[in-house]
Amino acid sequence: MNVYDGERMAEMLEAGGYAAAAEGADADLVILNTCHIREKAAEKVYSDIGRLKREDGSRPTIAVAGCVAQAEGAEIARRAPSVDVVVGPQAYHRLPDLIARAERGEKAIDLDMPLDSKFGALPKRAGGQRPTAFLTVQEGCDKFCTYCVVPYTRGAETSRPFADLIAEARALVAGGVREITLLGQNVNAWDGEDERGRAIGLDGLIRELAKEDGLERIRYTTSHPNDMTDGLIAAHGEVDKLMPFLHLPVQAGSDRILAAMNRSHSVESYLRVIERVRAARPDIAISGDFIVGFPGESEADFEATLAIVRATQYAMAYSFKYSRRPGTPAATMDGQVEEAVMNDRLQRLQALLNEQQQAFNERTVGRTTRLLLERRGKHDGQLIGKSPWLQSVHVAAPGLAIGDMVEVRVTSAGPNSLGAEPLMEEVA
Ligand code: 5AD
Ligand code: SF4
Repeated sequence: MNVYDGERMAEMLEAGGYAAAAEGADADLVILNTCHIREKAAEKVYSDIGRLKREDGSRPTIAVAGCVAQAEGAEIARRAPSVDVVVGPQAYHRLPDLIARAERGEKAIDLDMPLDSKFGALPKRAGGQRPTAFLTVQEGCDKFCTYCVVPYTRGAETSRPFADLIAEARALVAGGVREITLLGQNVNAWDGEDERGRAIGLDGLIRELAKEDGLERIRYTTSHPNDMTDGLIAAHGEVDKLMPFLHLPVQAGSDRILAAMNRSHSVESYLRVIERVRAARPDIAISGDFIVGFPGESEADFEATLAIVRATQYAMAYSFKYSRRPGTPAATMDGQVEEAVMNDRLQRLQALLNEQQQAFNERTVGRTTRLLLERRGKHDGQLIGKSPWLQSVHVAAPGLAIGDMVEVRVTSAGPNSLGAEPLMEEVA
């Protein structure tokens, strides 16, 4: 979502006469768009600020945006006096005004979460040269997992209106985009009304977007297991443009830990969702997020996490050591787990997840599939595209261009990417 927000900020500033600079310190203005989800990500902003000095000792105007800004507010400007603007993730449409205030010598701080959405105030999507784009459809979270800062930094769950999303998708497609990834902290909690005023969920939005000519692929991320509705599960079997990939974090495999995390789903209910999604779309790739070392996690609890990984069989996954976030309920829970124990568990979990990812990739070898070519590879004439299952695939494709869809046969699999050969030229 920060990538999406960053693009919207850039587009807004470009509309106001700014142009992108090559190097941070040479720029007149630098915006650091930050993440507060784990301590490491949050600390990075301070070292980045330190690096923004020019050789002559001067510095650019510096704005800190995003969730670190929201969580730390004026504290940032105290700790790093060279920061001129602090702006939260719901207020960045006001950046031009904040920058103007900073240029007059003020510390401009805006942590509002205004009811009138920032989206209405941003300029229309420019479209770009790329074939894929993100589209934020939902923001915020009401789930309050006990380890997580998102409900505090991104605010309550809100859905953007249907008509705005269709308009934004059309602008992206008109600019050459062929694949859209719908974004939200709880994307499958999106709800709205279609043009006839009927209440719809994310599946309804996906079905409407699938009618757009020129849009070839639809993805969405990130979902909560409790918001996997019957309609959304069915859409995976029925909507051709909806790609066979589901990122569905479970976090842990012990019901005791899931309860302490306030996840409000159980191991069994999660596995049941996976089973139903696979019944609707047998080849679907499942991805997940995991936290090891949540307060109170015993060796037996951790082994239950390994067990749910074995039961699910992931195509890919992200896994993290628990990071204590100030202000969250888990930060003050008893039984904080030692760093060495967390390191050991993370290593064991990642070994299993890597094994599963390699096995998933190997299962695609020999298959015929379609790629959307996204970028150039290292070798001459080589392009890299994404498979329907979100794998990066290298293909030697002279005569083809970024943005083309190409039919290929997968010929090799590594841990992080596949090799393939084209079967024919551009497939319409
Ligand atoms: N510590 C470690 N990982 C976290 N995540 C969220 N909060 C924390 C935390 N305090 C992880 C979760 C979530 C992903 C985006 O980040 O796995 O799904
Ligand atoms: Fe954080 Fe996701 Fe839980 Fe919301 S559902 S509190 S974003 S981990």
